[in-house]
Amino acid sequence: MAVFLGIDIGTSGTRTLAMREDGTILASATSEYELSSPKPGWSEQNPEDWWEATQITVKKVLKSGKIKADDVAGIGLSGQMHGSVFLDKQNEVIRPAILWNDQRTAQECIDIENKVGGRAKLIEMVANPALTGFTAPKIVWLKSHEPKNYAKVAHILLPKDYIRFRMTQEFATDVSDASGTLLLDVRAREWCKPLIDRLDIKMSALPKVFESEDITGVLTEEAAKLLGLKKGVPVVGGAGDQAAGAVGNGIVKRGIISATMGTSGVIFAHSDEVQIDPAGRVHTFCHAVRGKWHVMGVVLSAGGSLQWYRNQLAQAEMTDGKRLKTDPYNLITEQAAEAPPGCEGLYFLPYLSGERTPHADPHARGCWIGLSLRHGRSHMIRSIMEGATYALRDSLEVINSMSIPIREIRLSGGGARSDFWRQMQADVYGRRVSLINTEEGPAFGAALLAAAGTGKFKSVVEACGAMVKVVASTDPQAEAKRIYTKSYPMFGRLYKALKNEFVDIAKIVSES
Ligand code: XUL
Repeated sequence: MAVFLGIDIGTSGTRTLAMREDGTILASATSEYELSSPKPGWSEQNPEDWWEATQITVKKVLKSGKIKADDVAGIGLSGQMHGSVFLDKQNEVIRPAILWNDQRTAQECIDIENKVGGRAKLIEMVANPALTGFTAPKIVWLKSHEPKNYAKVAHILLPKDYIRFRMTQEFATDVSDASGTLLLDVRAREWCKPLIDRLDIKMSALPKVFESEDITGVLTEEAAKLLGLKKGVPVVGGAGDQAAGAVGNGIVKRGIISATMGTSGVIFAHSDEVQIDPAGRVHTFCHAVRGKWHVMGVVLSAGGSLQWYRNQLAQAEMTDGKRLKTDPYNLITEQAAEAPPGCEGLYFLPYLSGERTPHADPHARGCWIGLSLRHGRSHMIRSIMEGATYALRDSLEVINSMSIPIREIRLSGGGARSDFWRQMQADVYGRRVSLINTEEGPAFGAALLAAAGTGKFKSVVEACGAMVKVVASTDPQAEAKRIYTKSYPMFGRLYKALKNEFVDIAKIVSES
């Protein structure tokens, strides 16, 4: 049977997964790398590290899955979106890649919007406003801050597309990842020439754009040798990690939405047409499904807020976890369950790294509000989980207001593995939530795209239909739902009340 590899170039590591054509996962492997932050708010990685991790994980997967190189019939790539890899005309990396979570480009975002006649005009051109994480502001930053480097730029690639280049020597990307550059005409699914010209970016530096299932090239002899594979294996377009993850969750039809509670939290909705929020609160990108789109809200520190609590304030649970050989998160959530829904008036704003959806505010910060002598650790933990869940509900509300139907919410990420957090999500969203049979994330979606693109399935929609099934669901509890319906509006009001104070806090910090 044919085997397909899905390779996800993540932020903390690269994960490769081997899937047999009947959907069986034969093996997976992860190799981690560093992230460097040479200045506050900066976030960079060395693209060579991704290529090394790709070689390590592909070879590991072949070995542990006992897969013959001859059986590998296709490769799909996925990866952290928005990152910028700059290559010179010898195809050498010019400087470390600037990543999606880098915050250096606040000024460039303002400049880009001004250059095209304002935010509304930019949204009209590329379906989205300028956000610090996106690629175009990074290119503009390079031009004004490192002009010598900018003069050398011959190619600009996204992270997974740099790996594609190392594999096939082709400069190519896919529509979903290209959407996150802010340079794609998302409606037409091709580069937005008027904007690219306006920003004075060389069109020739941008890769060719493909649909996610299309074959973009084949493995060269040299790459095949390094990976332990046969030359000539087709590499399909693949997708940005969110679209690939959504394919892995079967979010390929109208009405099916996913809510992913990972370090970041993402609400992802499939859409048959281009649907744009005029206020730019959610992203409208091309989907990895041919000719379709998706709308997405990103909460930067969702599960990340609980991770922060674990790392900074749960030393006892970390130690007990080791002793009892249990995940400290289990001990933390057991305590959370002791506090009642709504936490007796305690709120947590989860904006530890600023916020993207719906506020697009790099200055927003985390805080507990409403603390009283009655409150203890259980309230503090539960309020963090509630705050992260309210933040995801914010994205659901925007999507709902755009008349995108929400018929089914599929949960994924760490927050889906906890019974307690699953119930809380059903209660806060006020809707039934479901779980599916796989939890393999973007690498699985990339492998499905490879299977579809090389002809094992008619389309990725057919591939998902055959392999992704709902296995359980959770309904809201009436009393908790009632409490959250009353408490949730206050969550939004607290941010509004503090918005200007966050800006002033940022000023105090930068001046001190
Ligand atoms: C999506 C986004 C992140 C990155 C890193 O817009 O910024 O999901 O792709 O995972």
